[in-house]
Amino acid sequence: MPFKHMTDRRQIEALRDPAVVQKYGGDIKDGLYEWETTFLNSSGFFGSPGKRLLSLGCGGGREALPLAQMGFDVTAIDACAALIAKAREAAQSGKVRVNFLTATVPPLSAELGAFSHIMATYNFLSYIYELEEMKRLLRQVKERMARNGKFFFTFHDRTSRARSLDGCGIVKEVPQLPGVNCATIKARFFRRDELFPLIEGAGLRVVDSRRIGELVRDASRPVKWGTSTVLCLASHQQ
Ligand SMILES: C[S@@+](CC[C@H](N)C(=O)[O-])C[C@H]1O[C@@H](n2cnc3c(N)ncnc32)[C@H](O)[C@@H]1O
Repeated sequence: MPFKHMTDRRQIEALRDPAVVQKYGGDIKDGLYEWETTFLNSSGFFGSPGKRLLSLGCGGGREALPLAQMGFDVTAIDACAALIAKAREAAQSGKVRVNFLTATVPPLSAELGAFSHIMATYNFLSYIYELEEMKRLLRQVKERMARNGKFFFTFHDRTSRARSLDGCGIVKEVPQLPGVNCATIKARFFRRDELFPLIEGAGLRVVDSRRIGELVRDASRPVKWGTSTVLCLASHQQ
């Protein structure tokens, strides 16, 4: 296995919480959400040449499976072995081929090869709460991404005036699932002007970003991810 494991055991244990496994394992039936599909279709994500797609923090395979059914050659990674087991089961019963891997990222090993499409959806980047780890991951996303490739990511736009840590984003202990009594994780919350310079610093360029409210047909309907979510597309800097 070309991956080394995250040293924060508490974070790893929290990611394996049974309530979380049940929740993200159950989300698989949702498939791609309306706001994801609208964004991916209109941002040019699907227009990029190539079919190799990498899904980071894939959970139970909610997005990996429909994307494989659309013809992508999908590699999907998650730190939680129980979720990967559920994802493999779903792929097998749906007769869908996905390369599911249990591993923590970073690193993203060069052995994975190059991808035309990379995604870190459902605010995955918040889990990479150490700033140096985040920079390393973004650099490796760029290295694994083909020249004309696209990187789709989402984040909660932190608009509060809370004091920054490390001068970029704030780290908070948050319950894994709101309203569910389960382990807390450390998560980093960004403002747009904090996260985008990190993306640029890694040699990528944000080419599209839209708030979730702009992507749903019925703006009065509550969205599962919260209204502060921003969906973004990045490409290589020229
Ligand atoms: C919010 S869930 C999203 C799951 C799935 N992508 C979806 O949208 O339904 C985030 C996932 O990231 C995984 N995760 C968190 N930190 C990780 C890390 N450093 N490496 C790999 N996976 C990680 C968690 O185990 C969890 O399944």
